[in-house]
Amino acid sequence: MLSDSINESSIQLTKNGKLRHLVSLKNLEKNILMKLLYEAQEYTQSKKLSNELITRNQKFTIANLFFEPSTRTRASFEIAAQRLGLNIINFDIENSSGKKGESVLDTVMTLKSMGVNTLVIRHEEIGIHSQLIEEIGAECIIVNAGEGHISHPTQGLLDLLTIQQVKKTFENLIVTIVGDIAHSRVARSTAEGLTTMGVKELRLVSPKEFMPYEKITPVTKHFVSLNEGLENADVVMALRIQHERMDDIDINLDGYIKKYRITSDNIKVAAPNAIVMHPGPMNRDVEIESSLADGDQSVILRQVANGVAVRMAILNELTKNHNADWD
Ligand code: CP
Repeated sequence: MLSDSINESSIQLTKNGKLRHLVSLKNLEKNILMKLLYEAQEYTQSKKLSNELITRNQKFTIANLFFEPSTRTRASFEIAAQRLGLNIINFDIENSSGKKGESVLDTVMTLKSMGVNTLVIRHEEIGIHSQLIEEIGAECIIVNAGEGHISHPTQGLLDLLTIQQVKKTFENLIVTIVGDIAHSRVARSTAEGLTTMGVKELRLVSPKEFMPYEKITPVTKHFVSLNEGLENADVVMALRIQHERMDDIDINLDGYIKKYRITSDNIKVAAPNAIVMHPGPMNRDVEIESSLADGDQSVILRQVANGVAVRMAILNELTKNHNADWD
């Protein structure tokens, strides 16, 4: 759909380096990440909105367009928009004219004609957000809410915020992501964000068939042994197996669970105060032991709560920059 040569980082910025769309965390500057994390942290503490901001926000109408299923991301964008005084519609893809053959571009052009000026989009097609920016990015804000197995930047940011809240800084951390890395957009976006924030070590643990061919960031270290990957880790993130993205992999689930499920027993080799994360949705007792997911080390529901604050920070930044400094 779109040539790989287009630099996602530059198309999401204004000429003056401000965020105008959100497509990817790849190569996004650390100062932009830090600003969003700072703002999001303020929203977790019920930051009061000025009347000026609420008046500005009334000009924006967001459409949530989820061409793939979602619970957390869709609901938290809706809550975030409501808290900011933005108008939002949850577009019903299943009952839309897309089912009669209308293209994504015609769908968004139709919504734009009705006054929608911000599009939050989850789609399996890689490059669709960048293409929409090329087509309508001068008038509409485009926000990536999940792009195939490639990118889920708002999830990456909420993971960073959660880690920062508990661990305070990134520089001394060993972070281990375990599971189906190959098909995970969360692994990619979270790893991109952690790389920019300068973690000490970033480990990816999975069997060979779930390891991507490419290095997802220059600093990632790949492990097949769970025990080696967990050793002294400060942060451990479990990922589910993304069955919906697999055509040709025949996995032995019992064997996978025996070797890769994170449990209260095998996590003992991690740092004593290690935290346990999961982007959700979880398959309990597959990639993570259910009691560990609910235990003291778990920050999984904190991740979910932070999703609202992070999406408030992103929507606020993008609507603030809209038209103010675009060219
Ligand atoms: N983590 C995540 O994207 O969850 P949803 O699919 O429920 O939005």
